[in-house]
Amino acid sequence: MKNISQFRSYFPEIETLYNNKPLVYLDTAASALKPKTIIEAANDFSLKKYSNISRGISHLSANATELYEESRQKVLKFVTGQTGENKLLITSGATASLNMAASYYYNKLSFQDEILLSLAEHHSNILPWIELSKKTGAKIKWIDVNDNGEIELPFVAEKITSKTRVVSLTHISNITGSITPVKDIARLVHKVGADFVLDAAQSVGHIGVDFLDIDCDMAAFSAHKVYGPTGLGFLYCKNEIIENFPNFFVGGGTVDDIVLPPAIFSDSDLSINSKNKDKSDCRSYDFKLIYKSDLARLEAGTPPISQLITFGLVIDLLNNIGLKNIEIHEKYLTESLLDLQKIDGIEILGPKKINNRIGVVSFVSQNIHPHDLGQFLDDLGIVCRVGHNCAIPIHKRFAVSSSTRFSLGLYNNKNDVEQAINGVKEAQKFFLLG
Ligand code: ALA
Repeated sequence: MKNISQFRSYFPEIETLYNNKPLVYLDTAASALKPKTIIEAANDFSLKKYSNISRGISHLSANATELYEESRQKVLKFVTGQTGENKLLITSGATASLNMAASYYYNKLSFQDEILLSLAEHHSNILPWIELSKKTGAKIKWIDVNDNGEIELPFVAEKITSKTRVVSLTHISNITGSITPVKDIARLVHKVGADFVLDAAQSVGHIGVDFLDIDCDMAAFSAHKVYGPTGLGFLYCKNEIIENFPNFFVGGGTVDDIVLPPAIFSDSDLSINSKNKDKSDCRSYDFKLIYKSDLARLEAGTPPISQLITFGLVIDLLNNIGLKNIEIHEKYLTESLLDLQKIDGIEILGPKKINNRIGVVSFVSQNIHPHDLGQFLDDLGIVCRVGHNCAIPIHKRFAVSSSTRFSLGLYNNKNDVEQAINGVKEAQKFFLLG
């Protein structure tokens, strides 16, 4: 096994002082820190080789297109073990990807249909479906979680019926860190002929992920939580989904031809002085749009070019470190982080043991409000996230309004975890005695 600690120095921010203390960064679930060598290598592209892609005939553009598409394939291989065509749509982030996933169903659902979500979802995997439900009349049904916040297979089985058309679930909760049994759920979902959409924003980069093996129909994730740039996300789709996607986001790069109605070229219609212009000559049905096939039809406009090229290099780094090594390292640290529950008055929201979870650990204190605790920890140089953390339903399920969350990345070490636990203990003393 590789010694992961050698890669800590790749992330200069973690070695900086913060509030005059060594930074303890425990907020990777919100966004991961960035590796310096990668950012520098990628800057080389932005400063010396930059061009738009898939446009023009310049060598510069052809080279940028090649690098861009190579990176897409690297990412695809990272999440499916394979390369191929028509699988990985580039978006601006996991939220955009989930909105796009929901938009696939705009003209496919009606009031008789049902959409299944769990109480453990991030708002980005709730709101787009609620808006879809308002537009189509389809009903949202909620899958419960157990007292540890885990989605269990029988809970899903209980809610699936012949009316279920789509089930959209988190792979790993951004609150509890619990890993959903997605492979078994996919089987169940497909048995009734429904689609299975996966929110993989918290799993990619932390555990081995194989969308082909899971057999999900779509899966969303972001680059910025996987040590990559912001403004870049992905929607993995099965081929038949790509083929049947409506033209919902269109523009430059998506059509091969626009067939215009002949009337548009008549003098009277084109003249800005024409008083009697008959607008009916240019109704939308007179235009014929010859869309490109496959991915190009769905990726309008200039995409996040340098971001994807940067992310391709991040994927090389992660492959070099080895995802299995990252998983083992984070598991080892998570085990220590779970010692939080030994502190009087602290309750973990999520699995209390190491099985089926990752290093996303949210907790509540009987005595301290999360905002006070977050501020106290921040003064100690410990960065975490507090609040409802974009997951109000699961907080309501736990009968609390907010929590404090520590979340791990590959750069964290045992000292970070100890600092965090000591920080919480100090806060308890401060607020109880103070
Ligand atoms: N979705 C991110 C989080 O859970 C921002 O913190």
